[in-house]
Amino acid sequence: MTIIDGNKVAKEIKEEIAAKAKKIKEERGLALHLAAILVGHDGGSESYVNFKMKDCAEVGFDSSLIRFEDNVTEEELFEAIDKLNNNSAIDGFIVQLPLPRHIKEQKVIEAINPAKDVDVFHPVNVGKMMIGLPSFVSATPLGITILLKRYNIETSGKNCVIIGRSNIVGRPLSVLMSQKEMNATVTVLHSGSKNIKEICASADILISAMGKPNFVTADMVKDGAVVIDVGTTRIPSNQTKSGFKLSGDVDFENVAPKCSFITPVPGGVGPMTRLALLLNTLETVR
Ligand code: GUN
Repeated sequence: MTIIDGNKVAKEIKEEIAAKAKKIKEERGLALHLAAILVGHDGGSESYVNFKMKDCAEVGFDSSLIRFEDNVTEEELFEAIDKLNNNSAIDGFIVQLPLPRHIKEQKVIEAINPAKDVDVFHPVNVGKMMIGLPSFVSATPLGITILLKRYNIETSGKNCVIIGRSNIVGRPLSVLMSQKEMNATVTVLHSGSKNIKEICASADILISAMGKPNFVTADMVKDGAVVIDVGTTRIPSNQTKSGFKLSGDVDFENVAPKCSFITPVPGGVGPMTRLALLLNTLETVR
């Protein structure tokens, strides 16, 4: 059994990105620049955005953080998005989700210039990705496909079962895994699915993006399967400074011995998702 080291792969690729970013900066006299809009003070969102800004610094991108309080109006957000859309010094930007309930998230997403939508939330970019046109690729799905390739994991003709159909993980991942390049046979499980255990147990590659700690137990995993854990549930912990620790969807201790490859949480998919945002930002200048 091999534990897939997302930190190691992300570090290697970050070095490649840093070299390309340096060249771009020399050529155009301006560093690549990623901006983030963050609304409110949710602990999870704050920490994700801080990590993204730190990642930018590591590879030599400039970054900007634009903050609003929870009571921000839609008009104020649209104004900020408009400024970023029209600022030629900003290559890409993200609006960290979730947004407060009085803000219509989809309207906000659709206000982003697709050419700067490095999160790949805009329907134009989602559509391009779905039909295999050159485009940005959703961060977590891109990160997962890179991990599979770097570990030389065969996907062609394999049964790939994905738990979860979210717009940012399960659904785009199902498309990538079924496209010619990955060439897998894909099943997507969701809250309406029946026989979940049996279907998971038939998977050569099992990818869980449910957000439920310990959902995937050893009896749901075939001997020799590849297990990719996308879960990142923050659970209280007295062992960490922040008072939280991350839990994946997989009962790692009991599932790992059955696997050929498995990703840990933390240190598996998470660093690759962050990396993918940098890769999409690099793509803005292609
Ligand atoms: N909230 C949870 N994941 C993400 C993400 O990948 N991008 C943004 N913008 N918000 C998120």
